[in-house]
Amino acid sequence: MDETNRQQLYDHAKKWVLEAGYHIKDRIDDPLSIDTKENPNDLVTEMDRHTEKVIAEKIATTYPDHKLLSEEGFGHDISDLAGVVWIVDPIDGTMNFVHQKRNFAISVGIFIDGVGEIGLIYNVMEDTLYNVQRGKGAFKNGEKLPNLEDRKLEEAIIGLNNFWTSENRKVDEKKMQKLVRKVRGTRSYGSAALEFAFVAEGIVDAYLTMNLAPWDIAAGVILVNEVGGITTTADGKELDMLNKSTVLTCNPSLYHQIVNEYVDLK
Ligand code: IPD
Ligand code: CA
Ligand code: CA
Ligand code: CA
Repeated sequence: MDETNRQQLYDHAKKWVLEAGYHIKDRIDDPLSIDTKENPNDLVTEMDRHTEKVIAEKIATTYPDHKLLSEEGFGHDISDLAGVVWIVDPIDGTMNFVHQKRNFAISVGIFIDGVGEIGLIYNVMEDTLYNVQRGKGAFKNGEKLPNLEDRKLEEAIIGLNNFWTSENRKVDEKKMQKLVRKVRGTRSYGSAALEFAFVAEGIVDAYLTMNLAPWDIAAGVILVNEVGGITTTADGKELDMLNKSTVLTCNPSLYHQIVNEYVDLK
């Protein structure tokens, strides 16, 4: 893809993400139609589906040869990353959307022949856009994000949710407890996309979680990568952008220590 087409692709993606965000914001006080998916806490709303449908239609109309991998059923069945693949989460942090009416994001990552090229994470209610084009820098509301600075684990804030206390935990919880005691603090924001954005921004130093889908992380991986961060599975393996996996995204100065000393998957 030449530079002009690449820029046009980015401009379209940005426009469609912002339009979708403005629509959600306009209707934030409307009554919600809420369903559950795999369990009573796995929520989805009509707004999740509507947002994905609108973005899917725009992609299909403008770029009929592009593919879409997405959460709510408007995407394609994809078995490889050949060509241009949009990876879209229409609302990341649906539980926050329902309960808090804030702290959720629209996440769009675009991969070309398997390489993450464009990423957009839009914190809708805060009106904050994180964006990246590979090799051209990562930005927050138009301001370039600097490369991540070295950090000591004792002075780090780590994004961690409650996975390591849950019954079906897949980690050595003693080591996780050691990690929690070692770091300066932990946070749990309830939107994987925003946690990635915070790692890229350097206000959180790592985010470790046990089960994320490609649409949770696609944009974030590209964004974090651009500022020198590292993203792999929690035990240090290369990510597979077509399947769910454990995830660690991290300041590079902490990465090896966390993987080698604190993460032991069962
Ligand atoms: C969820 C959020 C949440 C993470 C879950 C995801 P959704 O995405 O990113 O932070 O812990 O694993 O499924 O369902 O709100 O798009
Ligand atoms: Ca969901
Ligand atoms: Ca998600
Ligand atoms: Ca979602």
